[in-house]
Amino acid sequence: VTNTLLSVDRAADEPLYRQVRRALEHGIAVGSLDPEAPLPSSRWLARELGLSRNTINAAYQELQADGYIESRPRSGLFVNREMRPRTSSAPRPHPEPARYDWSARLRPRTDAGLPHIEKQPGWAELPYPFVAGQVDPGQFPAGPWLRALRAALSGPHAHASLRDGVADDDPLLVEMLCRYVLPSRGIEAGPDEVLLTLGSQHGLYLVAQALLAPGSVTAVEDPGYLDARHIFVRAGARVRPLPVDGSGVVPPDDLAGTDLLYLTPSHHHPTNVTLSVGRRRTLLRQVAAGDTIIVEDDYDSEFRYRGSPSPALKALDDTGRVVYLGTFSKFLAPGLRLGFLVADRALVAELRDLRRYMLRHPPGHTQRAMALFISSGDYRRTVRRHRLHLRRKWETIAASANADFGWPVAAPPGGVSLWVTGPPNLDAPALARTALRHGIALDRGDVLFCAADPPRNHFRLGFGAIPHAAIAPGIRLLSTLIPGALR
Ligand SMILES: Cc1ncc(COP(=O)(O)O)c(C=O)c1O
Repeated sequence: VTNTLLSVDRAADEPLYRQVRRALEHGIAVGSLDPEAPLPSSRWLARELGLSRNTINAAYQELQADGYIESRPRSGLFVNREMRPRTSSAPRPHPEPARYDWSARLRPRTDAGLPHIEKQPGWAELPYPFVAGQVDPGQFPAGPWLRALRAALSGPHAHASLRDGVADDDPLLVEMLCRYVLPSRGIEAGPDEVLLTLGSQHGLYLVAQALLAPGSVTAVEDPGYLDARHIFVRAGARVRPLPVDGSGVVPPDDLAGTDLLYLTPSHHHPTNVTLSVGRRRTLLRQVAAGDTIIVEDDYDSEFRYRGSPSPALKALDDTGRVVYLGTFSKFLAPGLRLGFLVADRALVAELRDLRRYMLRHPPGHTQRAMALFISSGDYRRTVRRHRLHLRRKWETIAASANADFGWPVAAPPGGVSLWVTGPPNLDAPALARTALRHGIALDRGDVLFCAADPPRNHFRLGFGAIPHAAIAPGIRLLSTLIPGALR
């Protein structure tokens, strides 16, 4: 309250107590007097204004008599609740902000014609969430991960967790990748051939931005990973679809004129077939002849339920042309957003520079915690436990689908989803809509094909997130809905 609110003019004709009263009345009307706080005492205000206490008391008496202020026992004088200005409590109607037409300023999107992978909102609440690319939070090793997060903030680790690394990665995590994670995929790499990413999608984006330009050609598996196509087309590239059969992608006659070949060799996305060794060798010969770069997306390689995981394509490459993408999304959780890329050191240096001006580096705390999670053996234990758990789910979903759907369903022993090809007259997008009304989430398959008029009889059942016990009843319920989705 105060000097600025209350000022009096001793030379004016108006009596001083009336000037004080008018100033207070104004303060009440515009809401500048705090209605929750007591008004200043007459002693304090008299001293502030250089007036007598009687003058102030006279002003307060008039305001009280007129109902502007009220006396509360043992608390003092307050603004009368009913006199509080409306405008201070009632929401003021906002003027509609002016709308700017951004469409005239934004760079046009080259991938505007492509469909999108749609994740069903609220899938976690459904009884039968056959969603792909998600995990069951109950399977996440929360205790060991919390220990790693805590350790990453203590003693010598805190610096690595909290510093601004600018372009650098956590050297301990890079060492753990080179010593333990990459060798399990048959890959030998030095620290300058590794770059940490926010997941394989981030790695793909960096590679596309660095290597592709308008007019570039990228060959992709058809059907294949739709988000990768978005990323290539956004970088200006034209997409060359390559068909896929039971042995993986079918090599074309040659790769001349193809700048980049994107592959998911361990478990083809979305069918989960493994690329045969013969085709791997053919493709490596072709990329050398055509001067094509391979991007190998090894997103869920460890999840092989029979035999041992096939080594990475990168492990066979002696030309330096394979860029390898790995991720912790499938082995731990996609929400962690942590992955890695292995490539020739010259390319890694370039991608590091790109990343530096985009986001510097993935969070240091997550990187150091992951390094400690790997060095403690918790990572190896988690992958082994997940693999066993997922194998049981895979056995259940493969057996249920073959028993209930009414046609044979191929279930290659790997990956975290089942690709289902129904009879030619199945309308899988319609099935997905009906299924949702029955609490079943599944992914339609048509959007994963490159053709403008793709087949509609495929769908994908993820089994990473759904509880094991829900798989068999979910498949049984789904099978009862199939007749209604035949055209
Ligand atoms: C084939 C494939 N690659 C990459 C990703 C994305 O992985 P990340 O979470 O590491 O970006 C996915 C996720 O669904 C995928 O299916």
